[in-house]
Amino acid sequence: MIHTSEPGVPKPHEGQEKVLALPGRFKIAVCGRRFGKTVAAAIAAVNTCEKKENQHVWWISPIQEQSSRVERDVTFWLRDRTAPPRARSKGKKKDSESVEIANPAHAIEPEWTYRASEHALNCSNGSRIEFHSAHTPDRLRGAGLDLAIIDEAADVSEYTWNTVIKPMLLERQGRAFVVGTPRGKNHWLHKLYQLGQNPEHAGSYSSIRLPTTANPLIPANDLKNFRIDMTEEEYRQEFEAEFIDGVETVFAGVDACIKGTMLHQGRPGVKYITGIDLGQKQNFTVLCSLACDTQQVEGFARFNQMDWREQEKNIFDHLKRFPGPAVVDATGVGQPIFETIRRDYRDHVEACYFTPQRRTEMLVGLQRAFAHRRLILANETTLIAELHGFAYCHEKDAGGLRRVRMSAPSGQHDDCVMSLAMAWYGKESKALWAVGSDRNPFIDKGVYG
Ligand SMILES: Nc1ncnc2c1ncn2[C@@H]1O[C@H](COP(=O)(O)OP(=O)(O)OP(=O)(O)O)[C@@H](O)[C@H]1O
Ligand SMILES: [Mg+2]
Repeated sequence: MIHTSEPGVPKPHEGQEKVLALPGRFKIAVCGRRFGKTVAAAIAAVNTCEKKENQHVWWISPIQEQSSRVERDVTFWLRDRTAPPRARSKGKKKDSESVEIANPAHAIEPEWTYRASEHALNCSNGSRIEFHSAHTPDRLRGAGLDLAIIDEAADVSEYTWNTVIKPMLLERQGRAFVVGTPRGKNHWLHKLYQLGQNPEHAGSYSSIRLPTTANPLIPANDLKNFRIDMTEEEYRQEFEAEFIDGVETVFAGVDACIKGTMLHQGRPGVKYITGIDLGQKQNFTVLCSLACDTQQVEGFARFNQMDWREQEKNIFDHLKRFPGPAVVDATGVGQPIFETIRRDYRDHVEACYFTPQRRTEMLVGLQRAFAHRRLILANETTLIAELHGFAYCHEKDAGGLRRVRMSAPSGQHDDCVMSLAMAWYGKESKALWAVGSDRNPFIDKGVYG
């Protein structure tokens, strides 16, 4: 069996070989979940740098957390392949955050230097991989690239690809490697895939579609189990990498994560993280409490048409029953109530301000929690209905550019989803646990997500 935790860049499996062999300038690999898309793309990044001098390669994930995970793992690959870092030559200024990843025993192989502060890996031949996120796409502008790698392309907007990334490939005649799992036929990933299938565009675009089963590490029996939990269409999309008309669900796999019922009172001795989405008249205030030991949502409250004082009373009452840190929506009218909770509640209270970026980041986090079956939901009809209803809407911004936004269908509420997203964000945010969020890239043998 092969493991990425073993030293060196992993050897691609057969399916990944096909992906890596795609011809043309723009390569599009549409593959099932856990096929090994991220590993294949990361291998392509390292190979590109090692084969040619002065290559500027950017890794772009939808959110920073995903990009950082790949950064850690690629750094780990390159370090593990070699002996412990070599001391730098005397008199050379040492960057406290940079680690030389080099092995004199492998003199033929280029040497790598990891620059944590720049989120970059520098190759001794002048090539460099930088790790970015598409979270604030306009911040990506400016650089000229030889290779742009877009991971999880279904979660990156068409605007980012067309208006921000593609122009960065112009002056260096750069290439792009776009990998992802399908998200319906309206998505730009489908358009790109089709271009890759069209012989007229053979010189520039090429595409491939491969199912999860092409990853030899995935036991076939496990996939059968997933099939039971999912609708036929979800399964075909997620594991067989099919573009299905009308399937643009944001949260795939929710039903597989439902277990048990909500509790009136938290279990003794268990710490909970509660997400609190505030609303006053039309909108509901919703509280979701996630048990830290089981990652199961066990506490839930939803109320509206109350004045703030009554709301505060209800919130404190809930937090007493589900003790632990809270993440509170402090946007706009929520600010005063957040201040009160922070002042009067003895546990950690974190403010959440919903900028469009923060909102997307949190929803993508929640999406991945479901996709990876990391979160368990006690059965709560309203919450589950909201999760099922969440969809991708195509809208135009002020400049007339189309953007994709995740939201509840018009006229429906999103308070349950947002409070759950806050609880999950709280769970993932190490600061709330009094643990530093920067993990040591050399110790952490993370698995891609
Ligand atoms: N060539 C390889 N050698 C060893 N392990 C591999 C290889 N390719 C993939 N894996 C392992 O398979 C798993 C899935 O890989 P990866 O995260 O790249 O898949 P993915 O298609 O990007 O998944 P997701 O759909 O969740 O984004 C990981 O645990 C990874 O370490
Ligand atoms: Mg991946």
